[in-house]
Amino acid sequence: MNLLVKNFSSALDSKNKSPARMSKLRFFLHSIRDFKTIGSVTPSGKYLVDALIAPIDPKNARCIVELGAGEGCVTRELQKKVSDDCIILSFEIHETLLRPSDAYKKNVILIHDDAENIKKHLDLHNIKSIDYVISSLPLAQIPKEKVAKILASVKELLEPHGSYVQYQYSLLSKKTIGKHFKNIRVKFVPFNIFPAFVYICKK
Ligand SMILES: C[S@@+](CC[C@H](N)C(=O)[O-])C[C@H]1O[C@@H](n2cnc3c(N)ncnc32)[C@H](O)[C@@H]1O
Repeated sequence: MNLLVKNFSSALDSKNKSPARMSKLRFFLHSIRDFKTIGSVTPSGKYLVDALIAPIDPKNARCIVELGAGEGCVTRELQKKVSDDCIILSFEIHETLLRPSDAYKKNVILIHDDAENIKKHLDLHNIKSIDYVISSLPLAQIPKEKVAKILASVKELLEPHGSYVQYQYSLLSKKTIGKHFKNIRVKFVPFNIFPAFVYICKK
């Protein structure tokens, strides 16, 4: 395993790699070191990213919170979809994944902290509520108490018209999410490594 990590590390150092390829490599390298927190070996593909941002109506989007941004594949599409007046707070626990050097727009705020601290960061930015939460957190691998805390914060801070969108590789989290959100619609995305379920939840 160490040899594998070393080989990928040197691949990351080499020149002439496209930024997209480099960030995929970076993600893979992190995932083999820490699969438990990352929960995937590759960033979400186009179909999954499209399904995650589809519920967003740009006219109703003043603040979006992204949880588990990884190397930024969803963040990049989010910033294209909404106006520059919409604030996007992107949480990622691994500081080396979501990097300021990857040139995001001014309205994207990168937060290297645990998703359980959403409220603290909203307060710091003087934001009272959220219109959409887009989450890639690997819920099944996060301790139950922490998941409950995150879901309670999301519910408390979400506007009545808003949606909480979460993807998972199984339907196992439906019961946990259902304790906080009454209205859950599930969309299956087969064309992704791995096929995924997108939960679109309303209060
Ligand atoms: C399955 S990856 C998804 C990454 C990216 N959004 C995508 O769709 O490819 C989940 C991400 O959540 C991050 N993560 C896991 N637990 C977290 C937590 N408690 N707070 C913030 N980020 C977390 C991991 O580091 C990882 O980058």
